[in-house]
Amino acid sequence: MYRSNTCGALRSSDIDNEVILSGWVHKVRDKGFVAWIDLRDRYGITQLLFDEERTSAELLEKARSLGRETVIQIKGRVLERASKNKNIPTGDIEVLVNELNILNKSLLPPFTIENETDGGEDIRMKYRYLDIRRNPVKENLIFRHKVSMEVRKYLSNQGFIDIETPYLIKSTPEGARDFVVPSRMNEGQFYALPQSPQTFKQLLMVGGMDKYFQIVKCFRDEDLRADRQPEFTQIDCEMAFVEQEDILNTFEGLTKHLLKSIKGVEVDNFPRMTYDEAMQRYGNDKPDIRFGMEFGELNAVAQHKDFKVFNSAELVVGIAVPGAAAYTRKEIDALVDWVKRPQVGALGMVYVKYNEDGSLKSSVDKFYDQADLARWAHATQAKKGDLICVLSGDKNKVRAQLSALRMELAQRLGLRNPKEFAPLWVIDFPLLELDEETGTYHAMHHPFTSPKPGQLQLLDKNPGAVKANAYDLVLNGNEIGGGSIRIHDKETQAIMFRHLGFSPEEAKAQFGFLMDAFQYGAPPHGGIAFGLDRLVAILGGQETIRDFIAFPKNNSGRDIMIDAPASIDEDQLKELNLKLDL
Ligand code: AMO
Repeated sequence: MYRSNTCGALRSSDIDNEVILSGWVHKVRDKGFVAWIDLRDRYGITQLLFDEERTSAELLEKARSLGRETVIQIKGRVLERASKNKNIPTGDIEVLVNELNILNKSLLPPFTIENETDGGEDIRMKYRYLDIRRNPVKENLIFRHKVSMEVRKYLSNQGFIDIETPYLIKSTPEGARDFVVPSRMNEGQFYALPQSPQTFKQLLMVGGMDKYFQIVKCFRDEDLRADRQPEFTQIDCEMAFVEQEDILNTFEGLTKHLLKSIKGVEVDNFPRMTYDEAMQRYGNDKPDIRFGMEFGELNAVAQHKDFKVFNSAELVVGIAVPGAAAYTRKEIDALVDWVKRPQVGALGMVYVKYNEDGSLKSSVDKFYDQADLARWAHATQAKKGDLICVLSGDKNKVRAQLSALRMELAQRLGLRNPKEFAPLWVIDFPLLELDEETGTYHAMHHPFTSPKPGQLQLLDKNPGAVKANAYDLVLNGNEIGGGSIRIHDKETQAIMFRHLGFSPEEAKAQFGFLMDAFQYGAPPHGGIAFGLDRLVAILGGQETIRDFIAFPKNNSGRDIMIDAPASIDEDQLKELNLKLDL
């Protein structure tokens, strides 16, 4: 038997018990006549005691010489501690050791296994198995487990069936590039790894499995960010015989259950906002509604003077930053520089200080008088003491820029409270999105999303105006889920493919299997997929999903621990009929 108890288990009720513990040497404190070892495992830390009076000289010497992270097993007796440690659950006791076995030695770890470590990101990723020994990483993984268990429990209780779908498939377009896998047995042909199980879950609906879910890996070759990994996990769901309302209610139920069971937070019914409204009020289709700073459109009150920059702009729009009228010139200049960074891309920023005495002082006083500026303050709902920041230009661009500024300032002002949870459904997304570069339309969600009833005809006349039966679930400014009611008949799906620029032959070659299935009694259906990594990170009060993934990739898509991706040898290439011409 390696252990009778874990290192987090012993309490004063165990005093005088003989115990066996196994774990890692966290710390050795050697006072000469007495030595203590903190023994650590997944469950906690137990203090081990060796002293001259009760421990043999040989054992005391052995204990003293133990290096950090050595794996040991001890036998001993639980004693009451002379000086108790209130900070840990085992702080009332210690174990007087009478036998010590070294199970395995350890090299000196390249960083300290402490909550606050001295290791940088790269070194911790290279030795991720050591990083996982640290409490913050370990706790995040356990937290993730709890969330996914609650998801399984809830959905299973609601009658959803967990069904696995294949990983070696044909491309499922979700807007990213595919990762492809060459087939040895089928020369010159490739599988694609699923960007999502979208088509399979629809086929399951045709198969009559009317409530499906899967906690499933998805693969997307896209640029990485804090909330994006090339392989990530979805809680993927689909239901048959449902309308949008059924889906929203079911998954609002799941989200409420998670907030309650994991965070102890009760949330009222989730607000809903159309895509158009979200863009107008927040410049963003995933607005963080924990704080105000809503957009005030200023065209009507700012385009009547000689200020050319505003007069030539499609949109003039501002936000009121609470309490920021007190910013110094230097601080405001820094904000202007911030919006002018290439990542944000604004050409400049106009500002108005709404002073405590009610006066308004702007960077464009040459053009606008107090009455003008008062109208701006009204439109942006500014109060005395606020700073109004105004951007102008092309509507889509300027909304994105001001949204970036809004989020940045909210972060700086501490308005993004990680303990507060503000979910929001964004509904009525456009069906299609114009690619400015190519001038062609592509599906905003994916090609299987149905247009709103009665809007199919509009596809020919004004494709950009067609709205979809599509919805996103937003939590604290992050898109944690998205889905839609699907097209379930062959004709509509064919029209959709045509509008996305597929010839009938191409559509048949790529998605013939789905169109065929639609001819055999496909029920009306729809669904949603949550990003599990994002959901877990946000519930955990963070936004970087890497910290909640056991073995994540870095920003270049590399696993630096196992050194992947890597080249493969000539023989393997030959076997796969691949030639590299580098
Ligand atoms: P969508 O593409 O919106 O929808 O993806 C669903 C959710 O998955 C998460 N997500 C990601 N998380 C981490 N890294 C990524 N690279 C990444 N990409 C997406 C997001 C997102 O909301 N098949 C549809 C769902 C459906 O229609 O039912 C789909 O995949 O949180």
